[in-house]
Amino acid sequence: MKHLIAPSVLSADFANLQKDIEMINRSEADWFHIDIMDGVFVPNISFGFPVLKAIQKYAEKPLDVHLMIVDPDRYLQDFKLAGAENITVHIEACTHLHRTLSAIRDLGCKAGVAVNPHTPVSLLEDIIEDMDVVCLMSVNPGFGGQKFIENTYKKIRELRSMASGRNDGLLIEIDGGVSNQNALKLLQAGADVLVAGNAVFSAADPVLEIAALKNLNPD
Ligand code: DX5
Ligand code: ZN
Repeated sequence: MKHLIAPSVLSADFANLQKDIEMINRSEADWFHIDIMDGVFVPNISFGFPVLKAIQKYAEKPLDVHLMIVDPDRYLQDFKLAGAENITVHIEACTHLHRTLSAIRDLGCKAGVAVNPHTPVSLLEDIIEDMDVVCLMSVNPGFGGQKFIENTYKKIRELRSMASGRNDGLLIEIDGGVSNQNALKLLQAGADVLVAGNAVFSAADPVLEIAALKNLNPD
């Protein structure tokens, strides 16, 4: 499968969101990556339902919603109604992860699990069949524009081998500090989806930057 590119809307111009959404629509991007932060699970607050609904109005590609919030179960249905196709919850925020992932799938969404940099992927061992996406955080969540954590490559390889034969369709998504400097190596390690915020939106031509990431060839 060709890898997917998910520009992170967190780095967009919020005073002119429609323009950036339309840029992503006409680019080679595959998903919109949407970061929801509650100021409790992470030390930052991003945006909530009114903004998400505004994004949904213009977005022509799937919304990949990354919930950096405590007790995500309370809001799953609301995120579905706000247009989420993928809902990703943090393993560190879920006491009953199996129940949460089942609830996401019951809504007809792809179920994702995000894993902080300090959390070993081995914690997914007994539940690897029950998710569609694993989002490996390659920075500490909360902010765009941070430095990529190198240990991520090892986690991709571990996860790929854990999923092999048990969940071969699992999408491994990398979130944080992804750029043209590390994207090829991430794909070669086994990544399927690259999230990119700062790298895309600080580029002179974001559409070209997305194309450059999309057209990398790991083989
Ligand atoms: C970080 C977010 C990321 C962020 C990535 O907490 O989950 O999605 O927007 O931004 P960059 O690519 O700038 O690190
Ligand atoms: Zn994210």
